[in-house]
Amino acid sequence: MDSLRFDGKVAIVTGAGRGLGREYALMLAARGARVLVNDFGGGPDGSAAQDTPADDVVREIAAAGGEARADRNSVIDGAGAIVGAALDAFGQVDILINNAGIAGGGWFPEIPPADWQRMMDTHLEGTVRMSRAAWPHLMKREGSHIVNSSSSASFGAPFTSHYSTAKSAMIGLTRTLAIEGHGVGIAVNAIMPSAYTRLTAQIPDTVLRDFLADHFAPVRVAAFVVWLVSTRISGQVFSVGGGRAARVMLAEGEGAKAAADTPEAWAAAESGVMGMEGVRMARSMVEELCDTLNGMGPEGAAVAARMGAGDAWEPSR
Ligand SMILES: NC(=O)c1ccc[n+]([C@@H]2O[C@H](COP(=O)([O-])OP(=O)(O)OC[C@H]3O[C@@H](n4cnc5c(N)ncnc54)[C@H](O)[C@@H]3O)[C@@H](O)[C@H]2O)c1
Repeated sequence: MDSLRFDGKVAIVTGAGRGLGREYALMLAARGARVLVNDFGGGPDGSAAQDTPADDVVREIAAAGGEARADRNSVIDGAGAIVGAALDAFGQVDILINNAGIAGGGWFPEIPPADWQRMMDTHLEGTVRMSRAAWPHLMKREGSHIVNSSSSASFGAPFTSHYSTAKSAMIGLTRTLAIEGHGVGIAVNAIMPSAYTRLTAQIPDTVLRDFLADHFAPVRVAAFVVWLVSTRISGQVFSVGGGRAARVMLAEGEGAKAAADTPEAWAAAESGVMGMEGVRMARSMVEELCDTLNGMGPEGAAVAARMGAGDAWEPSR
């Protein structure tokens, strides 16, 4: 018997008909969760529904003795219906994995506005709308979770600016929802997965593609995500794939002060501004501001102390 079990829990996995989402759904169901398997069945670029992969995954789960329901709504305009389907079928929501995603490329100035909008709607709006619809129900459950799907494209990725913009927005969303979710028992994390799926099967470099196919099975990401939703870790971003996982942080250098409020003084301070010695990793906007205030003498430190940096929540360290 597996020791990490989810008996009595209900999970919604969006985009769970294929790739990573399918593995999350299969693994959670195999460990006792009842799963709402959402997938609208569209093309890799988000084009119109072509098939019914959610139904296939539900059949697979049932054949293995698990419990699941299929849902074919799109996360773009069907968030309320998706959460409603989980409530109708199972009466509660404990885990939301925002996974539905599409791919697309193009030189920044030439990406058609409709493609840009579809990327934002699928990844960012889809995640926001699903999280908003599920939030009041997650609040009712003990130790609930949201997992958002970011991407290492957040570090910067040429020829897919719409994708990297949507995926990096997920980081601010995750960190803020983790702070707001702390008081109501909702843990919120994001992953930057690497897995061989139909999205990465489009990579033109055949050597890299073959290596991914051999070593980056989606199940290797699923094992990490299923562990993550068994913990109380919150507010974190993880790079996960190929059997490795690592925390990803927003980091800030110690910084430098200009001798005067002139551009010339900043020119003189350039190396200090660019330096990353004494790197800091603030957990919130308040902590970041307090770092600045604490460097401004006793008066600034007094204001920082008044703000009570970090008191608002207990982050996972
Ligand atoms: N595979 C990787 O290496 C990788 C890397 C970084 C990020 N990601 C992210 O992980 C997630 C899963 O990707 P994957 O590689 O498994 O892709 P995939 O294409 O195999 O699966 C994504 C699924 O999402 C569904 N989907 C798309 N738009 C939807 C919508 N509006 N509503 C409901 N379902 C929708 C698709 O039909 C598809 O079945 C995506 O968010 C992707 O951006 C993947």
